[in-house]
Amino acid sequence: MSLLVAKNLQIQFQTKKGIITAVRDVSFTIEEGETLGVVGESGCGKSITNMALMGLLPENAIVTADELSFNGVNLLGISEKQWQDIRGGKMGMIFQDPMNSLNPCYTVEDQIDEVLRIHCPEMSKHQRHEKILSLLLDVGIPAPKERLKAYPHELSGGMSQRIMIAMAIACNPKLLIADEPTTALDVTVQQQILELIEKLQVEHNMSVIFVSHDLSVVKDITKKIQVMYAGEIIESGLTKDIIESPQHPYTKGLLDSIPSFHESKDDELFSIPGLVPDLHARPQGCQFEGRCFHRKDDCQSKWPLLEKATDRVYRCHYPLEKK
Ligand SMILES: Nc1ncnc2c1ncn2[C@@H]1O[C@H](COP(=O)(O)OP(=O)(O)OP(=O)(O)O)[C@@H](O)[C@H]1O
Ligand SMILES: [Mg+2]
Repeated sequence: MSLLVAKNLQIQFQTKKGIITAVRDVSFTIEEGETLGVVGESGCGKSITNMALMGLLPENAIVTADELSFNGVNLLGISEKQWQDIRGGKMGMIFQDPMNSLNPCYTVEDQIDEVLRIHCPEMSKHQRHEKILSLLLDVGIPAPKERLKAYPHELSGGMSQRIMIAMAIACNPKLLIADEPTTALDVTVQQQILELIEKLQVEHNMSVIFVSHDLSVVKDITKKIQVMYAGEIIESGLTKDIIESPQHPYTKGLLDSIPSFHESKDDELFSIPGLVPDLHARPQGCQFEGRCFHRKDDCQSKWPLLEKATDRVYRCHYPLEKK
């Protein structure tokens, strides 16, 4: 049984200008211990897809799916109490902005202690204290005893993200959702946090969903990649295959925009021309058609369905040839 199953997930929002469909026909599974990278430009639905998995979408959201289940629990229609048990329990999460995610009024120890008190009520105060110290060591905080009494403003960005990670893994989650966890950090710290997530994933045999707008960030730490565009999965498959031989022109465009992948380093770096479509006026056919170098006449009128081959899925009438 897969740890997570999403089948035909759709997320709509009621807005002043009417209902928009921000995510549609999104289907994927995650197995135990597997790392999935989710990439795509800003606004393509990466975060709201994860928010739906965590039950954190705002009130104006309408979520439907043929199936949305985690660890054997049907997530559609569960109560807020059940969400609270899942979040921070079997599902941990870290976000882009660690400095603003921590509560400025609580010490490091108090913040982690709160997670343990809620999700592990059987632990004594002493056991929780010991667990917090071992968590801090686990996430690479030097001199953890001295850090226990620190407040968030005394921590660097990288240190804050390590504390967020300690909170996320405190209850041994089966799934860690990391939404752009390194975007707000400087480059050297980014690399350290990536290495930490990779280490913890292996040690705890967690599944990880790692969201980034940058393919170069996810390519080394994920087994599978899912590329999103305008709220749809437009390509997914094994990371190695996607990087070596993208079949959707959008994926190829993302790869060509990465400096180290760029064939001629002397040329100006490639960037995909144009903008993502307005969700209030979605194109009738392929959502990427207006920006695509590979389009043909019927791309504008016919919406491409997902083509499924072994280990590879793409949504394109005229995919690039496999290398
Ligand atoms: N509360 C809301 N009401 C209406 N539309 C929303 C709401 N929240 C998100 N959206 C829309 O859903 C779309 C997807 O947003 P999402 O935050 O998932 O993008 P993203 O891929 O995570 O982008 P980024 O890389 O910038 O984080 C956006 O077009 C956004 O405008
Ligand atoms: Mg986002």
